[in-house]
Parts: sequence; structure tokens; C-alpha cells
Amino acid sequence: MVDIKVWDILVRIFHWSLVLFFSIAYISGGEDEWLSIHSYAGYTIIAIVLLRVLWGFVGTKYARFSNFVTGPQKALNYLKEEVSGDAKRYLGHNPAGGLMVIMLLISLVVTVISGMAIIATDGEGPLATTFIASFSGDWLEEIHEIFTTLILLLVLTHIAGVIFSSLLQEENLVKAMITGKKQVHKNDGSNE
Ligand code: HEM
Ligand code: HEM
Repeated sequence: MVDIKVWDILVRIFHWSLVLFFSIAYISGGEDEWLSIHSYAGYTIIAIVLLRVLWGFVGTKYARFSNFVTGPQKALNYLKEEVSGDAKRYLGHNPAGGLMVIMLLISLVVTVISGMAIIATDGEGPLATTFIASFSGDWLEEIHEIFTTLILLLVLTHIAGVIFSSLLQEENLVKAMITGKKQVHKNDGSNE
């Protein structure tokens, strides 16, 4: 068995910063006196996400979207195979994990933009001078809350998926997201 570098340094920094800033944004949400921390955590998140999207086109092999983005049908088939115990092992994201990554990235962007739109209706933030400032604040707050809850549900499912796959593959995937390395087994399927 040999070790192979799967997650490059940028993917790892991206991931653990996202965990940190998402926690800060989630905890500080809804408290008036924390709005400044809350919005800066949100701006940091959108900067990280945009950088990650760029890296998805020009980054290293396993970081690229072309390596792991598949449709819902493939993701569903993979989950069925995992449950029945005959799923192929992937070095990068498996099809279900890949779909989860995309859903998380999109939901994070919608949440941050809806947050920016809420404060724009009060004449604050970078969108205050745009047409968005004339939108209904109540409606935007609904969107912000729905997507925040959606991300929380996705994150819980994400963590459950990571634990489940780790047990199934007898490999600590959390450790792999820290060191960047995974073990290559002799008869692995890869992400080719
Ligand atoms: C402490 C909680 C968390 C743990 C233990 C964890 C663990 C992991 C692991 C092990 C992977 C790699 C999965 C694989 O091998 O295919 C991963 C990927 C990912 N996770 Fe998490 N995660 C956590 C929280 C979060 C949160 C809060 C978010 C977002 C709000 C998030 C977003 C992502 C994304 C976007 C990826 C894809 C990484 C990339 O390709 O750049 N995770 N996570
Ligand atoms: C991914 C990033 C973000 C997350 C996870 C998040 C999460 C939350 C949560 C949990 C709440 C409390 C909702 C409630 O009261 O029930 C909230 C409220 C709020 N957020 Fe965010 N938020 C994010 C980004 C932003 C950004 C970037 C801004 C502004 C620039 C913002 C502005 C607000 C405002 C003004 C409220 C209060 C709305 C109200 O009174 O209902 N948020 N957010």
C-alpha cells in the first residue's frame, strides 16, 4: 500500500476555513450587535467559495470539477451500491460526495447574497446602491433563513456521509482532509 496526495493545500485550507467561518456566521446570525462579525464571516465565505470555484477549473487533479461532478442519478446509484456493499472506491470525491459539494457551494452563495440583500434594504453594504435595495426585506429574510437551514441539513448529511464512507472503506477521511493523503489499495477504482 502506498500513500497518494489527493487533497492539495488549497483544498484543505479552503475546507477548514469554511468550517470555521460557517460556524461563526451561523452562531452570530440574528443578533443585531453581532451583525458586523456576521456579515464579515459571510464575505469571507463567499471569497473562499469563489476561489474554490476557480480552483475547480484550474486546480490539481482531484480538485477539478471534471473529476467529481456527476448527475443526481449517478449519485443515487452510488448510494445504493454503498448500502448493498458493492460500491467502487474513489480516491477523490465519490459521486454522492461530488453532488454534495456542488449543493453546498450553491447554497452558500445564495445565503451570502440574500444576507447582503437584506442589509441593502436598510441602506447598508455593497448592494445598497443597487436595485436590490428596493426589494422586500421580509421576503429576503425568509430566503436567508431557509437556505441557512438547508446548509445546516446538508452539513449534517455531509458529516454522516463522511463517517459512513470512512467506516466502509476502513480509511479515516477526516484525517485525509487534514494531511491531504489517502492510501492506494491494489485493486482500487480511481476517479478516472
Ligand atoms: C467538522 C465538520 C466537518 C467534517 C469532519 C468534514 C469533513 C470533510 C471531508 C472528510 C471531506 C472530504 C470528503 C471526501 O473524501 O470525498 C470534506 C469535503 C468537503 N466539505 Fe466538509 N466537513 C465538515 C464540515 C463542513 C462544513 C461546515 C462545510 C460547509 C459549510 C463543508 C463543506 C465541504 C466541501 C465544500 C467539501 C469539498 C472539498 C473540496 O473539494 O474542496 N464541510 N469534508
Ligand atoms: C453563509 C453565510 C451566512 C450564514 C450561515 C448566515 C446565517 C444566518 C442565521 C442563522 C441567521 C438567523 C436567522 C434567524 O433569525 O432566524 C441570520 C440572520 C441574518 N443575516 Fe446571515 N448568514 C450568512 C451570511 C450573511 C451575510 C453575508 C449577511 C450580510 C452581509 C447577513 C445578514 C444577516 C442579517 C441582516 C440577518 C438578520 C435577519 C433577520 O432579522 O431575520 N448574513 N443569518
